[in-house]
Amino acid sequence: MTKPSFKVCFVISEAEPLIKVGGLGDVGGTLPAALTALPQEMTDGRDVDVRVVIPYHDILKERQIPVKWVCNFRIPYDNGLFQDVYVSQAEGMDVPIYLIDGDPVRGKGVYSTDPIVDAYKYVFFSTAAVELFKHIDWVPDVLHAHDWHAGASVMKMKQMRSYYQPYHNVKMLYTIHNLPYAGGNFPAVLEKYGIEQAFAEEIPQDKRGCPMSLGLTATDMISTVSETYAKEILTDEFGNGFQYFLQKHSEKVTGIVNGIMPHQWNPATDRVLYENYDVNSLEKKLVNKRMLQREAGLPQNDDVPLIIMIGRLDYQKGFDLAFAALRKVLGKNWQALILGSGNPAIQNDCLALAAAYQDRVRAEIRYDAAFSRKMYAGSDLLLMPSRYEPCGIAQMIAMLYGCVPIAHATGGLKDTIIDPLESKDYTGFLFDEAKPEACADALSRALDAYADRDKWITLQKRCMVQDFTWEKSAKKYYDLYKSL
Ligand code: GLC
Repeated sequence: MTKPSFKVCFVISEAEPLIKVGGLGDVGGTLPAALTALPQEMTDGRDVDVRVVIPYHDILKERQIPVKWVCNFRIPYDNGLFQDVYVSQAEGMDVPIYLIDGDPVRGKGVYSTDPIVDAYKYVFFSTAAVELFKHIDWVPDVLHAHDWHAGASVMKMKQMRSYYQPYHNVKMLYTIHNLPYAGGNFPAVLEKYGIEQAFAEEIPQDKRGCPMSLGLTATDMISTVSETYAKEILTDEFGNGFQYFLQKHSEKVTGIVNGIMPHQWNPATDRVLYENYDVNSLEKKLVNKRMLQREAGLPQNDDVPLIIMIGRLDYQKGFDLAFAALRKVLGKNWQALILGSGNPAIQNDCLALAAAYQDRVRAEIRYDAAFSRKMYAGSDLLLMPSRYEPCGIAQMIAMLYGCVPIAHATGGLKDTIIDPLESKDYTGFLFDEAKPEACADALSRALDAYADRDKWITLQKRCMVQDFTWEKSAKKYYDLYKSL
């Protein structure tokens, strides 16, 4: 007899290829597929049936992605009133992805600059996601909610499973991808949806209505996206006011590092590269370097180490301290190419650096997924000075493309990069303190290492064969679900 499948529902705001604003979208798109693909010997012979619920963001409607209608229902709202929910399912996906629509979702960006607009959108979305199971003849064994956007779904489920029999056995996992983004503190919005605040005494007063607080306090287990970040969030430095609660419940907190899908990040098959290469044809990486230098308008020179920086221009990402560090190593030979958009002040810093060092720095202020791939392929070093980084994905992609990371030893960066001081099988260069001096020091070590060509090629090859696939982590998630 076949065993019943193990049912997991992701509640998340992004899932690629439908929608990706940041790293959250990578996880929303790839982890469900990785869980479904786990070999049966890892899942006690059971199928894992993962479904995903995201908002039906306006941009998805504009793009006219193919969908089929699933159901409509109403949820209680504002003491005796109701709100309509319209649910569709995206077609052609690896796993079922339900799209939640309704007034609070319509006419909005994926995220708003106005926190109350986001509060209405995501509390509605979270409530509707939990109510959905009443209407589709499918109740998950585990509700797996992600980041503040889905925090209210955890509290809603906790309330419902106590009185609504079909939900009695639903267990919950809440995953933190970025703790400082807790969602706005709007108790009045929660009240309209009949959702309780987080009354745990360790949660600061002014955070009790934040969706992140609801997720943390109502869930059965908490996870985050690397082992190091799971420890960091217990500290005053990284805890953002949640450390007291997390310390008290530290037995509930674990870290599981994100993986990536190898077929999506393979320089041997990546169609946008100037020339494909693999670990045995590394000389072709040089073709990519020459073309990249030309496209970026940098002097074409094989021997000068080309450093790239890619990402959201946000204080979290620490670009400012990297710029200060680069200015400290002007005596060495290097080029830098920066790609990103975001905070206008940081954009200006990028442009100022490029203007000051026209012979070796270029800055491209935009989001450009295709160009970023050419950058990984055509460069020698990735600089990733994030002040904190729950997991991070760029460092893993870079390594697979033979581009060696230099990074702040925090969160997932620490867990995925090995420094020469840790092992002779090092894969990059880490610095401990988020300060320009420390960053400059790691940069110097990397630039010196680059000078020894044979050693450098060995290092590149070691990076390219690292295993960042999802399977190990997906198995850990499965075991965690089961433990619930
Ligand atoms: C957030 C974090 C990033 C992590 C991603 C996916 O964007 O900032 O470090 O990789 O979530 O978990």
